[in-house]
Amino acid sequence: MELISTKLSLSQLLEPLHRKGQCIAFVPTMGALHQGHLALVAQAKQLADIVVCSIFVNPTQFNDPKDLEKYPRPFERDIELLQLAHCDILFHPTVDEMYGEYEQWNLNLGHLEQVLEGLHRPGHFQGVTQVLKKLFDAVKPNIACFGQKDFQQYKVVEHMVNQFKLPLALELCPTVREPDGLAMSSRNVRLTDAGRRQASQLYKTLQQTKADLHRKSLDNLCTDAINVLENSPGIRVEYFAIFHADNFTVASETSRERPLIALAAIWVDGVRLIDNLFL
Ligand code: PAF
Repeated sequence: MELISTKLSLSQLLEPLHRKGQCIAFVPTMGALHQGHLALVAQAKQLADIVVCSIFVNPTQFNDPKDLEKYPRPFERDIELLQLAHCDILFHPTVDEMYGEYEQWNLNLGHLEQVLEGLHRPGHFQGVTQVLKKLFDAVKPNIACFGQKDFQQYKVVEHMVNQFKLPLALELCPTVREPDGLAMSSRNVRLTDAGRRQASQLYKTLQQTKADLHRKSLDNLCTDAINVLENSPGIRVEYFAIFHADNFTVASETSRERPLIALAAIWVDGVRLIDNLFL
């Protein structure tokens, strides 16, 4: 695996591959890799000739400076995992390499910025699109792979790709889960043993919502899920909602036949966890 830290050396390495018509798949990450990331790399390998992965803890997408500070950075271990996964190129730029001074960015993300993650993490998706536009410009991938756990992020990236008419295909890859159903996340390592056990209630509740879909109204499905979660020890609910997966708006009873997705954010042990399930 080639380790590259500047945009110039990345383009020197990729240019001949682009010219030869090689298909390049890109897996952007912030490191602290787990099986979920490695599944993205495996999917990317199936789809393309060359897999580029990036590790960059992007400061502009953190609205809490403490969260940025606490973000795990096990770089050596990440390199080993990517080598084992047969990733071809790792791009790991510094903040200075990616950002100029006082850089401003504002993309019209429409309602995507006003609901769920957008509402609860102001500015987060501006930071995500800002860094991804820079990374897409540097890598010029044919395909970019994202995990379903961050489904709203996927919709935001889809919006940006359409807005800029970027010539790349997005691949949504299934969420990888622990045996008890907890979605894999770099934040899980911050859970205490008790918190780790409590956290599995989130996926169980999403599954129950799916099982009850034809027995209850959409409002009741959400209210019941919130009650179950709030009554589980150690859990505080930030949101639980059912959305139309296509246009990412609140699901309406009259359009139940369209693809629905239940999405939730909870706090356990001071750690914020998100998950979702197609219904
Ligand atoms: O999902 C993530 O890890 C990040 O939001 C991403 C896509 C790498 C952008 O920094």
